[in-house]
Amino acid sequence: MPGENGANSILPRVMDYMQECKALLPVDMVIYLKGKIMNRPKTKILVDGGDPQETIRIRDLLGYVDGQTTNPSLVANNPGIKELLASGHKLSRPEQMDEYRKIVEAISPLVGDAGVSVEVFSDLKTTAEEMLAQAREMYGWASNAYIKYPCTAEGLRAAQASVELGMRINVTLCFSQQQAAAVYAATRGSRTPVYVSLFVGRLDDIGHNGLDLVKNVKRMFASGDGHALVLAASLRTLDHLLCCFHEGAELATIPAKVLDLWVKKGSPLPGEGFECKATGRPIPFEQLSLERSWETFDIAHELTQKGLEKFVADYRKTLE
Ligand code: E4P
Repeated sequence: MPGENGANSILPRVMDYMQECKALLPVDMVIYLKGKIMNRPKTKILVDGGDPQETIRIRDLLGYVDGQTTNPSLVANNPGIKELLASGHKLSRPEQMDEYRKIVEAISPLVGDAGVSVEVFSDLKTTAEEMLAQAREMYGWASNAYIKYPCTAEGLRAAQASVELGMRINVTLCFSQQQAAAVYAATRGSRTPVYVSLFVGRLDDIGHNGLDLVKNVKRMFASGDGHALVLAASLRTLDHLLCCFHEGAELATIPAKVLDLWVKKGSPLPGEGFECKATGRPIPFEQLSLERSWETFDIAHELTQKGLEKFVADYRKTLE
């Protein structure tokens, strides 16, 4: 049929044109949801939370959710767990693990290929072996699980062992370029992408320009082999989000309230001439070789320590 021939000949050209447009714009695609035009950025959108109902709401709002990150504080804030605690019931460790598993199992099918990140419970004394034992159990909770380890020496040892076992991982509580370089080096050879969670908002909190870290690590990873991806975390504002799109962060994890605001504003993307708003003291770029072994980098950071302490405190609040 002539109509069919016509359609067949024009379709590849339309597809080529769309591919060219995609390469030029910071947009993966434009989607139509309930009669509204929504931009879908190249940066993967992850929900930063611990409540599957919230993930469902955001998925309905955006039309998609690429992934989800959870952590001990977010899990302690899950409405079901809060209700249990309010009724005077504290959890035993196995019950806590079971509640976390149920949350992860509920979130897992709601998200796309960026998966659901599940964090091991650790304090400054937890060994790599102890983290790995938890990771083995948690990894079985969902077919798209990413195991989150803290950016400490023990966390990196566990991360190194995990990539050798073929696990997907996310190294969290990263606040410096040296830490990001160490994650890169410890996970070299990983068969799956390794997420490096850079905490923007908490750097802002201590007077730095947290977004500089995203920019610096992107620049540093540009000379690498591509196995480590920037996951912009601790995002608190629309400016944070737009700047992460602008800097080309591969992933961004965002609280529901910031995603609500983004959609309310018409899901904007950084247009031509967009500039990230600088806040706080600039973080200078460091020239670091990614060929070094991870132990040679300075991975100490006061915020990594404080972050772990806060996770432990929130986790302990739920325990009997
Ligand atoms: C994500 O993985 C982090 O745990 C999260 O973004 C931390 O955000 P906060 O600094 O707002 O607690």
